[in-house]
Amino acid sequence: MQANQINLQEEYSKTEIAKVLNILDEELVGLTPVKTRIREIAALLLVDKVREDLGIAAGSPGLHMSFTGSPGTGKTTVGLKMADILYQLGYISQGHLLTVTRDDLVGQYIGHTAPKTKEVLKKAMGGVLFIDEAYYLYKPDNERDYGSEAIEILLQVMENQRDQLVVILAGYKEPMDKFYESNPGLSSRIANHIDFPDYTVPELLQISKMMLAEEQYQLTPQAEMALEQYITRRKEQPLFANARSIKNALDRARMRQANRIFDSRGQILTKRELVNIEADDILQSTIFN
Ligand SMILES: Nc1ncnc2c1ncn2[C@@H]1O[C@H](COP(=O)(O)OP(=O)(O)OP(=O)(O)O)[C@@H](O)[C@H]1O
Ligand SMILES: [Mg+2]
Repeated sequence: MQANQINLQEEYSKTEIAKVLNILDEELVGLTPVKTRIREIAALLLVDKVREDLGIAAGSPGLHMSFTGSPGTGKTTVGLKMADILYQLGYISQGHLLTVTRDDLVGQYIGHTAPKTKEVLKKAMGGVLFIDEAYYLYKPDNERDYGSEAIEILLQVMENQRDQLVVILAGYKEPMDKFYESNPGLSSRIANHIDFPDYTVPELLQISKMMLAEEQYQLTPQAEMALEQYITRRKEQPLFANARSIKNALDRARMRQANRIFDSRGQILTKRELVNIEADDILQSTIFN
């Protein structure tokens, strides 16, 4: 091949990116807008790399991100996968993800914040810094708040060392939107604002089956119908946390299954009985009272 030609497919197969993207598709139910965005980022990085190889200017794109969405919609999970993808694409050198919250960055007393924030940034270099519930960084009601000091330092590093560190700010949508309104400098340095939608009932049912299969349990057909009813009701209740609420509900169902099996001791057990979650294990939830 000539010096001014390149085989994109070949470049693509050199990376593990196809594999990582496929795993992402398989392991994560739903989240179509999130997956689409990740593919776009992957394409951009690959094309950038090829441009660089051919001597065309390739400005290192800022890859800082914002993940907004309700509790349990997969923000932390996708953050972890994102670190892996960026590493596979050679964008970051180490691929680790460091999760922090306000308390890890902001000190209680004057002079404590800068060293704390810098220490965290140092640990995150080469990887992804995931700031959970990022809106807590900024407390407008408190004029002697040190959060803004942490934000200033963060901003500088996000601008000057963006080829060494990707920052993801995560949190629930409304407070995050407010947070960005008060910190436009931060918002404008984030190229990718990704919104995580709430899961639908069928998606939550599919997530349930995946979670159970991982632990070698399965739903009987009646149990599946019961679980669908459970999810429909649970979704309308306060403090619903999407996939996390489902995980908790399944833990309780497993406990009821164990109790049911224990109560029937004296009879011979089959493997199937140990694997199956029955409708009763779901229907005993107080949600059906
Ligand atoms: N799309 C999905 N497919 C399968 N499992 C999922 C999916 N989304 C989330 N989960 C599972 O649900 C649980 C909660 O997800 P996660 O912690 O990533 O949510 P989160 O958005 O970070 O929540 P929070 O805002 O409360 O921190 C995890 O156990 C995760 O594995
Ligand atoms: Mg989380």
